[in-house]
Amino acid sequence: MPTRPDTPATEAPFITRDRYEAFIAIARDRITTRQFDPAYHVPRAHYEMILEAARHAPSGANAQPWFYVVVPEAETKQKIADYFVEEQRARAKLKMKFPTPDYRGLATAPGVIVVGTDFRWTRAFPVLGDGSDLDRMYQQNAERILLQSVAASTMSAHLAAAALGYNVWWITAIGQEMAQKAMKPLLGIPDELSVIDIMCFGPPSAKGTYKRWKKSLPEIMNWGRFDPANHRTADEIETWIRDQRHRVLYRDATQID
Ligand SMILES: Cc1cc2nc3c(=O)[nH]c(=O)nc-3n(C[C@H](O)[C@H](O)[C@H](O)COP(=O)(O)O)c2cc1C
Repeated sequence: MPTRPDTPATEAPFITRDRYEAFIAIARDRITTRQFDPAYHVPRAHYEMILEAARHAPSGANAQPWFYVVVPEAETKQKIADYFVEEQRARAKLKMKFPTPDYRGLATAPGVIVVGTDFRWTRAFPVLGDGSDLDRMYQQNAERILLQSVAASTMSAHLAAAALGYNVWWITAIGQEMAQKAMKPLLGIPDELSVIDIMCFGPPSAKGTYKRWKKSLPEIMNWGRFDPANHRTADEIETWIRDQRHRVLYRDATQID
């Protein structure tokens, strides 16, 4: 059973616990799958319901710097999957030691939405625009604001898909220059815009899916001051990457020793 904070003795009348319970079930049960049931067809209304959630996300300066391209054609999905498989092969030679997943599953995804942005929207955030060192610092933060905004919208879309009963897959292995060049012409995306990630969703394949390991509440929640117990040394992080990363990525939480 997941840990539950205690219910306070008295609660303000505007608190809606039943809405929270419905929401936390969606947040908890949102699960990544990388292999879908290819026979399933996503109705257009579901794409609209998912992106309706994305539309209401918060964003820096309310600039809403995101756009979404729905990819309904099997042929285009296959081309995107082919690109990823190819990139995965090239990456294997670079010896990054990252446990890359099998991107062939992308072609089986009933729902595919490409998430994009326009980095020129960083101008809407606090920047000086004079090329100074100070400006570079603000510019760096402006990019963070932009990416956080797109992620906020994307997460709303993922939760909406999970609320509908779908499994999801968030793919970011697309930021690199080469991937951008390959992806944009396929979807008619103008050159000055950027593809940020791909959202896949649908029912899982017959193999099913599983809940992955999550940190406990005390491991992420620091009360008043940062808890030193939550601090990891560089060595500890390296050890985690070497010994744990592949387990938490591709294994059921109950199977982690
Ligand atoms: C920002 C972000 C980037 C991700 N990039 C990839 C990716 O490129 N390829 C992939 O297979 N999964 C990717 N994922 C999915 C994660 O691997 C997955 O969310 C994580 O293992 C936890 O599993 P869960 O979603 O089932 O809780 C990404 C997720 C996020 C939020």
